[in-house]
Formats: sequence, C-alpha cells, structure tokens
Amino acid sequence: MAKDKLKRWAENKHFSHVFEPPLLPIIREGKTFMKGEWRAKFFQNDHPLVIELGCGKGEYTVELAKKNPHINYLGIDVKGHRFNHGARKAIALGLSNVAFLRTRVEFIEAFFDQDEVDEIWLTFSDPQPKDYIGHRRITSIFYWNKYQHFLKNNGRIHIKHDNPMIYHAALEELEVTPHILETNSDDVYGSYLQTISQQERDTLLIRTFYESRWLEEGKKIHYLRFRYQKGLPKI
Ligand SMILES: C[S@@+](CC[C@H](N)C(=O)[O-])C[C@H]1O[C@@H](n2cnc3c(N)ncnc32)[C@H](O)[C@@H]1O
Repeated sequence: MAKDKLKRWAENKHFSHVFEPPLLPIIREGKTFMKGEWRAKFFQNDHPLVIELGCGKGEYTVELAKKNPHINYLGIDVKGHRFNHGARKAIALGLSNVAFLRTRVEFIEAFFDQDEVDEIWLTFSDPQPKDYIGHRRITSIFYWNKYQHFLKNNGRIHIKHDNPMIYHAALEELEVTPHILETNSDDVYGSYLQTISQQERDTLLIRTFYESRWLEEGKKIHYLRFRYQKGLPKI
C-alpha cells in the first residue's frame, strides 16, 4: 500500500490538472492560491465552477464533469493518493473540465474569491461524531458560513451521506437559517428516485467508493440540497 501511495503521489506531480500547494505559507503568512483565478488560469472559460469537498477518489467530480461538459469541476481532498484515481480517469476520458486540489477544508477560503463557486458537493464526509459544535464537521452550519465567502448567493449545497446524524443535524441547522431547502430524502434508493427528474436521478445514481461500501452493508443513503441565502437575517 505504501508503495502504491508513493507511486500515486509521484504521478500527481506530473498532472497539470492536479494542484498541491504547500499549506504552511497559507496558514502562517495568510497566502492564497489560485484565488479568483480558477476560470481564467486553469479552465480558460467562464463556465460555472462546482467543487466537491472531501472528494476521496473523485467519483462525483469526474462523473459530473462527464455529464456536464460546460461546467467546471474541482475535487478537493487532503489525500492526494485518493483523488489520483479520479485524476487518472479524467485523463482517460479526455475531460478538460476537471481539476483536483490537495488541501484541508479548514483553509478553504484561501483558494476562492467572493462568488467564485456556484455549487458545493459534500459526499460521505467524515462524520466526526464527537464534534458537537461542528468545527470539524464539514457539513455543519459552521462550515456553511465559511463557504458563503466564495459561494454565490443562491448557490447550492448538496449533502449525501449514510449517517442519519449528519442528515438530521443539517436539517435542524437549516431551520435556523434563511437558506432554502430544495429537496431531501432519508432513503435515496427507496421511492424517492421515482419522484425526481431524470437529470436529478442520473446525478444521484453516481456512487462513490464509500457509498458502495455502505450500500453493501444495507445502509440507507440520505440526501439533501439547499440554496444558500446571503445577506438575509437568521430566522
Ligand atoms: C469518508 S471519506 C469520503 C470520500 C468520498 N467522498 C466518498 O464518498 O467515497 C472522507 C474524505 O474526506 C477527506 N477529508 C476528511 N477531512 C478533510 C479535511 N479537513 N480536508 C480535506 N479533506 C478531508 C478524507 O481524506 C476522505 O477522502
């Protein structure tokens, strides 16, 4: 496994669609990286930008990019050997609307300018069950408020998870915000799929590595999507 990781890390260094900036200048000196420049410098278009936080092997990032060639996708994870799978797949599929960034979500504001991001996907994020306040749980209201610095007004946040705690915590936290819940289900693969459009269905049928594992164990998959409302008072 160690050898495999080393191979994947080495390979990432040669990929022009993989970015692995050092974190220390960002943490200690407040430096930024590609902030406000993803479209102009990397994607070279003005298409929407969708990011996946904690993307793991990057299944959502790559599959969405394949389905939507006029949208730019950026998968973000602290573990480069994981998203190396997605980075390789993007090359194999000839996709030019995919990139990966290795960093920690805690410092995410250093990478995006105001209104630079159109949508955020949070797929099977680490549940952090002992984090009662939500300062480590990247699906929490604490993090939504961080994301507002670069998410467009009315921008969507998608949360897909096996853990009912994550799903119910997000629904509860939404109740004290002005954000608009668009849809939710505590059992995506139940009758819910029959109630949504074909496009939404195709999107939700994308399965990540962790999702496949939880489905094999018979767990239910939860999903919610809301639109972030900026500048409105809390309810
Ligand atoms: C449970 S895995 C889910 C991966 C993928 N989304 C999936 O569904 O297969 C959580 C992922 O989040 C990443 N992660 C956890 N905390 C993170 C953080 N603070 N910043 C960046 N990535 C993080 C981990 O490296 C891991 O790949």
